[in-house]
Amino acid sequence: MKTYKIAVVPGDGTGPEVVAEGRKALDAAAARFGFKMDLTEFDFGGARYLRTGEVLPETAVSDLRGFDVIYLGAIGHPDVKPGILEKGILLKLRFELDQYINLRPVKLYPGVECPLKDKGPEHIDFVVVRENTEGLYVGAGGVLKKGTPDEVAIQESINTRKGVERCIRYAYEYCQRRNKRKELTLCGKTNVLTFAWDLWERTFNELAPEYPDIKTAYAHVDAITMWFVKNPEWFDVIVTDNMFGDIITDLGAMSQGGMGIAAGGNINPEGVSMFEPIGGSAPKYTGQNKINPLAAISAAGMMLDHLGEQEAGAVIESAVMEITANHLKSLAAGNMGMTTTEAGDMVARLVAG
Ligand code: IPM
Ligand code: MN
Repeated sequence: MKTYKIAVVPGDGTGPEVVAEGRKALDAAAARFGFKMDLTEFDFGGARYLRTGEVLPETAVSDLRGFDVIYLGAIGHPDVKPGILEKGILLKLRFELDQYINLRPVKLYPGVECPLKDKGPEHIDFVVVRENTEGLYVGAGGVLKKGTPDEVAIQESINTRKGVERCIRYAYEYCQRRNKRKELTLCGKTNVLTFAWDLWERTFNELAPEYPDIKTAYAHVDAITMWFVKNPEWFDVIVTDNMFGDIITDLGAMSQGGMGIAAGGNINPEGVSMFEPIGGSAPKYTGQNKINPLAAISAAGMMLDHLGEQEAGAVIESAVMEITANHLKSLAAGNMGMTTTEAGDMVARLVAG
């Protein structure tokens, strides 16, 4: 029997609660589809940092390299200064494990209230492939004369041919595998950021002939935020850099019903990938059994898909859709019409079949 080694990082706030529900779905899928999981928990997060003064233990990255995948809840603690945990845990793992793709599906499930007028599930179903290891996120730059009227702050966007090419190639291949409209849109800013986006655009166009079945398109990042609101049905797969991807996927998440449902994968196709609900730790709901676990459950489904258990991944997604269509009052924490554990139990029952 196949056994997957899974590192579980429940994290802070409501992270542990939603991860617990995700694990129920994973267990049900394993029993039904005949695979095993060997799960190991790690206590990385704000609570550990406040206790030990250490953001990540020195061996964390090398330990995690020994797993097939990582299942992450949420990182973020109200008593820790913003930036420390984000950079020290989430970004560090993305970078050190070279998870160069951030895959973020934007799909409106049936029964979910959409804030966009006259848009339904038939209009909102696209995927953003966000570059995840370069751009403005590398932390290049510096500051001079800090705190004086002459202060200079430089924050550089680093784009390498290798990094851009592997991301765009992944996007073309993903678009082929997805097999929907077979259209890949490059989202950039070629009219202003002419160094970086010339590299992106050239690479995008150079690779296109290798994927003759994929139609290509281009949209400026500012314009795409308009189209996301007005014509989300235009999009199939979108590829973009780290910063733009960060921004447009929050907009995407809102159009699919918000942070209670949005999931993503930090993917290293040749290494260890990490799957997470993209909302935060929602500390004010901690321990109340009110937080929506569906994003974390969807992340678990994406993780199984990534591991090669496509059928199991699809069954988890169907279970989530059944719940949004027929059982949940809303996706908002505290207003779901059921508790966190009730929602998780219902998914697990549906997944068990
Ligand atoms: C995300 C988050 C992170 C990012 C933060 C928490 C560092 O916003 O996963 O989108 O900017 O990538
Ligand atoms: Mn973000």
